[in-house]
Amino acid sequence: MREKFGLTILVAILLCACSKKEQHEQDYDPAHDYFSYANTEQFVTEHLALDLVVDFDARELRGAATLTLQKLDSAATEIVLDTRDLDITGVQVLLADGESVAADYRFGESDKVKGTPLIVSLPQAAAAATKFSLQVTYTTSPGSTALQWLPPKLTAGGKHPLMFSQSQAIHARSWVPLQDTPAVRLTYEATIRTPPELLAVMSANNDPLTPRGGEYQFEMPQPIPSYLLAIAVGNIYFAPLGEQTGVYAEPELLDASVFEFADTQEMLDQAEILFGPYEWGRYDLLVLPPSFPYGGMENPRLSFITPSLLAGDRSLVSVIAHELAHSWSGNLVTNATWRDGWLNEGMTSYLESRLMEVIYDKARVDEERVLSYQELLLDLETVRLNMQALAPRLDVGDPDDFQGTIHYSKGQLFLQYLENAYGRDAFDRFLFAYFDTFAFQTITTERFLDYLDENLLQADSSTVSRADVEEWLYQPGLPDNAPVPSSKTLDDAEALAAAWAEGEIDVTEIPIANWSPQTTVHFINSLPAELPDDQLTKLDEGLGFSDTRNAEIGRAWFIQVAKRRYTPAYEKLERHLNRFGRGRLIEPVYIALAQNGTDLELARSMFATARGAYHPLTEASIARALEAKGIDSK
Ligand code: BES
Ligand code: ZN
Repeated sequence: MREKFGLTILVAILLCACSKKEQHEQDYDPAHDYFSYANTEQFVTEHLALDLVVDFDARELRGAATLTLQKLDSAATEIVLDTRDLDITGVQVLLADGESVAADYRFGESDKVKGTPLIVSLPQAAAAATKFSLQVTYTTSPGSTALQWLPPKLTAGGKHPLMFSQSQAIHARSWVPLQDTPAVRLTYEATIRTPPELLAVMSANNDPLTPRGGEYQFEMPQPIPSYLLAIAVGNIYFAPLGEQTGVYAEPELLDASVFEFADTQEMLDQAEILFGPYEWGRYDLLVLPPSFPYGGMENPRLSFITPSLLAGDRSLVSVIAHELAHSWSGNLVTNATWRDGWLNEGMTSYLESRLMEVIYDKARVDEERVLSYQELLLDLETVRLNMQALAPRLDVGDPDDFQGTIHYSKGQLFLQYLENAYGRDAFDRFLFAYFDTFAFQTITTERFLDYLDENLLQADSSTVSRADVEEWLYQPGLPDNAPVPSSKTLDDAEALAAAWAEGEIDVTEIPIANWSPQTTVHFINSLPAELPDDQLTKLDEGLGFSDTRNAEIGRAWFIQVAKRRYTPAYEKLERHLNRFGRGRLIEPVYIALAQNGTDLELARSMFATARGAYHPLTEASIARALEAKGIDSK
């Protein structure tokens, strides 16, 4: 009887959960951006004009944003903009005839992730206008989630402050009041006022010959989504790499950057052959201080880059290929919402690998393919099932936390699968046409699926079915026939790791000098779980892992050091945590420490020392991880 009762309850719970899920799926609108308050079905922004003072003492941007809006719904009377922590001091409506009227405005309820909607009432005088401008005067807060204000001591030169933005995913709203959704594209212009000795650069037309002086003009004539708005101000200088390419950095890093990124022009030339014309004019890099939270950010015309790529041997430039490739996948054809992020990141990871094959060789790229595949397999062990689809139905949460390797590596694998099925020539023709068809547009996963179906699947219906594709897009895990990348050099390194651990070979017989850093990373990842400290000491002394100049080798090694509690290397581990600020390089090391059963408190105290130099987003993410581990281990 009790059993039966229990079963009834179970069935009831399942039914309930099921219908709730179905309800959710029915209500879910893939074309709607759940991470913006903007009423884009009523108004869309066409152009933005910024006039901002960069105040390093107050750590704020101050001035005005003027949005040129088009009214789509004649009955609409209120415009909702996204903001976060902005101090709004006035809103004016500018009409076509030059008339200017003050508009009433108020704030809606704030949300921790989405910020605060700014609701502007259209004054009577503007009620009939289909096009008008809104001028919002405002000041950012020192805690703006998009902006990092670095004191001189956190820069390479140590003499001048530096400020940079990171708008993706939904941080543009913390430095500009706007419709912060990738569904809307706008052109922009800007006047930026800075201390006279510093240079400002933006995701716009940076003229390498711009003289210093404290007032800078920018123009971005191609329409871009708001997450690609970007600015940096500091003691930065330019050096050319090629005809159309160059690098900005503090003078202390300029020579190293020119050496490391020497292949950039060649990458751009090859990318145009593969993917179609480069639509953005110049392509420059900006090498930022270590606190830059990502490997790179594809701000149009000017990718922002972590200095941790400066390994001295050009071994980490796949990140440059990646950011450049976003000039097509992401910047030209843009994901409609962050739930479609795989269209940006998975497609870009695939293009990155294709580009790297042309510039370098297939063997090297296969190494990178295997490494990212293995990261994916690790992730699939921990990511919740409903988050393992390429395009899950996401309407809550923080878009910065979405997906990780799923969007990147599963997305890349999916496109590799299509390439394998249709052959490289046919798939390349498909991609070329895809970028041409959707240039300067925003698309959903569903739009991609229809286009793929019409232009590739139906051409050869025996190869891949729509249902096969839907499995990749909407189901967890990997389909049975997913490609499995392999690399001979990595297999060899893996075998050597086992042979060395068994005592069959000596450290001196490990041919590390002939290995790519990727091979060394794989060797480290392949070390067997049980290794006594004196073995690890021999390894570290023989191969110099703790003193590596290569950030990815350091990452792989210090994760192992923390997991294995190899305490002799803890001092160097801490140096790694203080040297780098890119989340990928440090967060997994903290997590490995916190999870090794003993060192949660040590992880917390190392974090307490290092966090002042981290970007607020990285800092918050590590703080959350260490808090969660604390709860886990209780
Ligand atoms: N657009 C991303 C960075 C990003 C993603 C910022 C999500 C904010 C939210 C950038 O193109 C990227 O993918 N960077 C990678 C590079 C790597 C995969 C080659 C990174 O930073 O690790
Ligand atoms: Zn990317």
